[in-house]
Amino acid sequence: MKTKLLAAAALAALLLGQSPAAAQVSHGGRSAEAGAARLELVIGADAIDLYVSDATGKPLPADALSGKATLLAPGGKLDVTLAPAGGNRLSGKLSAAIPPGTAAVVNLSGGAQPIAARFAKDDSVAAAHAGHGSHEAHVAAGGKPASGFDGTALYVEHCSACHGDKLQGQPNWQARLPSGELPAPPLDASGHAWHHSDQQLFDMIKFGVAKFAPPGYKTQMLPFGGTLSDAQIRAILDQIKASWPAEIRARQAAVGQPTAKPAVGGHAGH
Ligand code: HEC
Repeated sequence: MKTKLLAAAALAALLLGQSPAAAQVSHGGRSAEAGAARLELVIGADAIDLYVSDATGKPLPADALSGKATLLAPGGKLDVTLAPAGGNRLSGKLSAAIPPGTAAVVNLSGGAQPIAARFAKDDSVAAAHAGHGSHEAHVAAGGKPASGFDGTALYVEHCSACHGDKLQGQPNWQARLPSGELPAPPLDASGHAWHHSDQQLFDMIKFGVAKFAPPGYKTQMLPFGGTLSDAQIRAILDQIKASWPAEIRARQAAVGQPTAKPAVGGHAGH
């Protein structure tokens, strides 16, 4: 049977340790091509993370995806269930410690097409670089000032999949989806992000929008506090604000000041 043969070929390649094209690794893991998608696998201390991008490396929202990773550990196979963890990330708990370079097969469904990818064993993946904390570790070690972060690059990596590569948001962003969630709004001056003070914008990114909405509010804008440092969030915000015309910037700067009119209340109503 053809599929069996393909599977066998895939397994053989895996066992032989053939390395799939590894480009644009951004979280210290290994990447693999899977049709039109590219996956990056990070095996951490107690969980694995999988980042989904398109072929050019642009993050794709992973909220609709789910599946499993089979880790081919020296002690035997270990299946890990993967669930959406915000943005382009899927995550799953590890029931046993697994070396970060362990070979793995990943299968995802819920997208336009099923996604299957294999990650060859790679002993060079250092434990120190595995795990999602690597960003923070670098930040701490580098001790860079806020201005040291490239807000544009961070935006592209973490935000553009939903808010668009030109801050344009998703089409029909004011109409709720059948799920009850809102599409991602524009963050340029055509949206209403500038109706919020710096602190409000920062808090929405760090803590997620649900924290500021009525209980049970469903939103795709999840907290980034575990992913981005405060300085990184500020660098992204600076970049967003730089896209606003001077007049809008001046009006936004007045939001939350005693003399200003109250900011537009609650995000849920938009
Ligand atoms: C998975 C999709 C997704 C990702 C990734 C995402 N957002 Fe959002 N964002 C949304 C949605 C949807 C909303 C609308 C919130 C709601 O449900 O009311 C939103 C709202 C916001 C708002 C409030 C805008 C307003 O007009 O009130 C800001 C600011 C924001 N996002 C910034 C960011 C930044 C910065 C990043 C990257 C660090 C990011 N978002 C990543 C989906 C996303």
